[in-house]
Amino acid sequence: MAKDILKYLRDKKYVSGEVLARKLKISRVAVWKQIQKLKGIGYKIISDQNLGYCLISRPDLLLPQEIQRGLSTNYIGKEIHYFPELESTNIAAKEKALHRAEGMSEGTLIIAERQSAGKGRLGRKWFSPAGGIWLSIILYPQLSPSYISRITLMTAVAVVKAIKVCTQIESQIKWPNDVLINEKKVCGILTEMSAELDIINWVVVGIGINANIDILDFPKNIQKNTTSLKETSGKEISRVKLVQTFLQEFEKYYEKLKKKGFSSILKEWKLYSHTLGKKIRVDIGERIITGEAIDINESGALILKKEDGELIKIISGTILK
Ligand code: BTN
Repeated sequence: MAKDILKYLRDKKYVSGEVLARKLKISRVAVWKQIQKLKGIGYKIISDQNLGYCLISRPDLLLPQEIQRGLSTNYIGKEIHYFPELESTNIAAKEKALHRAEGMSEGTLIIAERQSAGKGRLGRKWFSPAGGIWLSIILYPQLSPSYISRITLMTAVAVVKAIKVCTQIESQIKWPNDVLINEKKVCGILTEMSAELDIINWVVVGIGINANIDILDFPKNIQKNTTSLKETSGKEISRVKLVQTFLQEFEKYYEKLKKKGFSSILKEWKLYSHTLGKKIRVDIGERIITGEAIDINESGALILKKEDGELIKIISGTILK
């Protein structure tokens, strides 16, 4: 109901309680109660006995009604579960993803203002204070499980595009899934899935973007290699706008991936690549391999050329500094 009231409260224009009550088919007291509720979550609304209510400003929160206002996607973000704080949006999304039969639909979003135990790749912790963008998307793609890394690579391209559109900042992708600005990490992606031999049951794509975070607020040990959009642009960015733009880009690429395949997305990924053409060291768990990153193949694997000319295909690993 509070969401419906917001539809009628245009920014900086008065609407009377009577009109709101009539439009929403509720009493004026019920309207007043909803207005109090909105004020409680940070909407600045003034009231005038004769003129009614007027919306002065919206809270800087990733509330579903704010994200969905003007969101032009068909299904990504049509359902949003919002939390001021969660342990991890990926954990919450994985629990929900199991309930497809109970109406959990493709493109459902879990979003939190803060995470108390944000998860990074390879069991690492992901620092997630207020001011960042921490969200997970639930997908049910009809793809072979072996194509899962295509979704991660595609997500990175959508992040780069959204950052550029909203802030003009150019970012790059470090294989497989880090987005960097000036060599420093601004975004990480954690894709998790449940699959059987040849079908995917569900995929959860977790995206963490360091948006409006001061660099000195990051733990000391990651400050050197980490940045935020606020830090880079010198001002706070609109997180709502960035989430909307990202969701629109994400849906566009996801549709392309399902209908037209991966080639054109891979081409774009290569355009934004921070990795290709560089001599790198990759930790693949049991050992470290050194060589020149010469390509990414259609399954998202990194092709490394060792000094002796041997080509190595790396499916999963971490590029070392
Ligand atoms: C990485 O680079 O190690 C991946 C980091 C992924 C972080 C995001 S924040 C939203 C989602 N929820 C989590 O717990 N992790 C991902």
